[in-house]
Amino acid sequence: MRKKLVVGNWKMNMTRTQATAAIESLVLLVDPKTEVDVAICPPYLTIETVTRLLHQSHFRVGAQDVFWMGAGAFTGNVSASMLADAGCAFCIVGHSETRGRFGKLEVTASTIPYFSETDETVNLKIKALLYQSIHPILCVGETLDERNAEQTDAVIAAQLKGAFEGIEGAEFYNGVVAYEPVWAIGTGKTCDSAEASRVCGFIRAQLREILDADAADSIRILYGGSVKASNAKELFTMPDIDGGLVGGASLDPEEFSEVVRSA
Ligand code: 13P
Repeated sequence: MRKKLVVGNWKMNMTRTQATAAIESLVLLVDPKTEVDVAICPPYLTIETVTRLLHQSHFRVGAQDVFWMGAGAFTGNVSASMLADAGCAFCIVGHSETRGRFGKLEVTASTIPYFSETDETVNLKIKALLYQSIHPILCVGETLDERNAEQTDAVIAAQLKGAFEGIEGAEFYNGVVAYEPVWAIGTGKTCDSAEASRVCGFIRAQLREILDADAADSIRILYGGSVKASNAKELFTMPDIDGGLVGGASLDPEEFSEVVRSA
């Protein structure tokens, strides 16, 4: 039986002062005996503050990205060993925003390479994280154009295949996959719960083929995209959804604790 997991992705929000206030509220709002696994992914600069505050709690901490090399002349980057050293248990990879696929922000073509994460770099990042025993949270999902062209399943199958190249099921056993339709991120448009569950089921079937049946049964598959207190319960009771990757709603401790309660 897979345990439910709710992850808050703070994205580029929260100074250390704001993070301290948010975490102090959150630990009071979430029942310490909850059966749900909870993790917060703050920006790099806030990881240490959040880790310190959550030290005695059941909450885990994650990062939002990583660079795949171990160390060296890679200005501006952070390695998996640094994340492990800072106490990260999880790390998001392949988020549509680091892939340069935004749901609502228009970026000019010349700035897209700045975000330019590809299936190949996602694969390298997963390998670097596994080497440090950090659980990757691999994000996959289609844009609105891809959905309208009925390419949702093909896009996701290709993202999964690329991400798991050369990786064994046993290595990713405790990893996480998040289905995040790009058009539902930060837009307030949630994917219909039946369709979200169908895609999560499709992901599990793909994992069975790409990895193996044991890994596919153990990997938690989350839904992300405008998850909030008012829709979390319906999403989390769907058979193929093992929890949520929550953006905007994770910035408000009251709202996020409601989402955790729904799980
Ligand atoms: P929102 O919950 O703000 O739509 O963001 C979802 C997301 O991208 C989480 O990684």
